[in-house]
Amino acid sequence: IEEGVTLKGELPFPFGAAVNNNLLKNRAAYRETVIKECNSVTAENAMKFSQLHPSENVYNWTEADYLVNFAQQNGMRVHGHTLIWHKNPPAWVLNYQGDAVAWDQLLKNHIQTVVGHYKGKVASWDVVNEVMAENGTLRTESIWYQKLGPQFIEKAFIYAHEADPDALLFYNDYGHEFGPTKRTAIINLVNDLKSKGVPIHGIGMQMHTRYTQSDANLAAAINTATATGLKVHIAELDIQMNPDNVQDLVFSAGLAAQQKAKYEFIVKTYNAIPKDQQFGITTWNVGDADTWIRGEYNRPDWPLPFDDNYQRKPAYQGILDGV
Ligand code: XIL
Repeated sequence: IEEGVTLKGELPFPFGAAVNNNLLKNRAAYRETVIKECNSVTAENAMKFSQLHPSENVYNWTEADYLVNFAQQNGMRVHGHTLIWHKNPPAWVLNYQGDAVAWDQLLKNHIQTVVGHYKGKVASWDVVNEVMAENGTLRTESIWYQKLGPQFIEKAFIYAHEADPDALLFYNDYGHEFGPTKRTAIINLVNDLKSKGVPIHGIGMQMHTRYTQSDANLAAAINTATATGLKVHIAELDIQMNPDNVQDLVFSAGLAAQQKAKYEFIVKTYNAIPKDQQFGITTWNVGDADTWIRGEYNRPDWPLPFDDNYQRKPAYQGILDGV
């Protein structure tokens, strides 16, 4: 790869990564790679409910503000992630006592305080994250579903839009590429919101995927989302190389080549959708050393375009070859 080549320079759509403030502050190679390669960033955790709003009357903006300032100084877009998610309510929310009106107010206050704080600085949000279960029905374990019913979804979009009418609002989820059941359910949800006039502008497909996933399923995921007419964000891309949890697996040249081909296929498919629907591609962190996959599944894995030392992997070339 020639010197001077970067992903933000070569790709015809924004390229970004989820970033972790500790690494940004303490690991020079990480920070340099983000600055060099990315023109978009997402907070890996700093904008989630528990981090921003740890108790009822306390908002803690320090970390998220640091990231927004970093992005502004380096000419990057910040994509907001995420306002409402079943996995990240703080204890005070889980223990909150109130009737439906009070819960509605709680939802509204959180969304409008956060979106309002970043108005003019964060121009897009994952408003609602992962409401769909694998079988194509809404997750009932969500506190928001339990307290407000399925209407919490449209309410969240309406409240976010009231707080910043210029912000692009996304529904974000994983598993579009798993198969038709989940994919169809997500698309039906999004089309239903659209038909009701709910302010929704984009679909985030996380794409925490595996090198064994079929090209047919990956293409169906991207193309089905595109058919809604909304913007499409490949929002959390990583390609897992050890789905069978082999504890002594080695990341061989053969595996690296298969990963490269999968990155290339995803980018090529995405590059073929209408330009005005291409919100961008974001990987979930930067180098393999930073990936959440190792902790989540307690195994070695190498899902990202940069290695443990932020050197470009064959996957990086695969991304370049996709356009
Ligand atoms: C993950 C982070 O990467 C971890 O550091 C954290 O412990 C849990 O959340 N889908 C999402 C992301 O929408 O917010 C998740 O991020 C990964 C799966």
